[in-house]
Amino acid sequence: MRLKNRVAVITGASQGIGRCIAQRYAEEGAAVAVIDVNVSGGEETVALIQAAGGRATFVRCDISKREEVNAAAAQVKSVFGPIDILVNNAGITRPAMLHKMTDAEWSQVIDVHMNGSFYWLQAVVHDMIERKWGRIIFVSSSTAQNGSIGQINYAAAKSAMLGMTRTAARELGKHNILVNAVAPAAATEMTKTIMNDPKFAEQQAAALKQHPLRRSAEPDEIAPTFIYLASEESSYMTGQVLSVDGGSMLVR
Ligand SMILES: NC(=O)c1ccc[n+]([C@@H]2O[C@H](COP(=O)([O-])OP(=O)(O)OC[C@H]3O[C@@H](n4cnc5c(N)ncnc54)[C@H](O)[C@@H]3O)[C@@H](O)[C@H]2O)c1
Repeated sequence: MRLKNRVAVITGASQGIGRCIAQRYAEEGAAVAVIDVNVSGGEETVALIQAAGGRATFVRCDISKREEVNAAAAQVKSVFGPIDILVNNAGITRPAMLHKMTDAEWSQVIDVHMNGSFYWLQAVVHDMIERKWGRIIFVSSSTAQNGSIGQINYAAAKSAMLGMTRTAARELGKHNILVNAVAPAAATEMTKTIMNDPKFAEQQAAALKQHPLRRSAEPDEIAPTFIYLASEESSYMTGQVLSVDGGSMLVR
């Protein structure tokens, strides 16, 4: 068990990649806090983990609101103790071409990815510094490097997460806190939203034809990288971004 006795917070763990990470972390011995706005999905994640013999708790929290993040962090600490591992995974998309994007579409995406990740970073870092151990993983996207038509808000937010990853890695390394990012690609509700949007369907279908593996992945193929980054095995790695996307970055 690679995460035995660790306490992990995974935001956006009510479904998709976050749920899968939560399940795999619990199998590796971590006590897992499932953080999400989707209550039924979050409770289902916890039930799945507990049915498999793992430890998990659900805390409803809108990560774009600092006071909710602070309250959720305090609740996790009261249930499981200080937080060792943070996965900043929660995310949304609000696609629109840049000349038509509304202020609301812009700021909703920035608020969740960028501000929410920052609030959680600040909420966990003090205990990590005190205990001289921590693992922080930002879930970015290839969109940060390549851009994506109709997603200037998402590209900006995911780029910001890479800047935060590198800065936090430099500031926190001396405290034995490692900060890395993952740029995943997997079939989830989020990607279905974009795939099914007629405005972007053609572009998405063309991208799949160019994909080295000619297929998308299930979250199960993404989660092992998160175990590695949360464990002792990654002890000399910080400030990096790992693309777990079947090589799709190669053909953009
Ligand atoms: N699926 C992909 O191919 C892909 C590619 C690149 C990056 N990502 C990133 O991976 C992460 C997970 O994506 P996914 O595909 O599993 O998406 P998903 O839509 O299936 O899951 C996202 C989760 O985040 C939660 N969430 C949204 N806003 C929230 C908020 N304000 N507070 C708390 N929780 C909130 C949702 O309720 C949901 O449970 C996201 O950050 C996404 O941007 C995904």
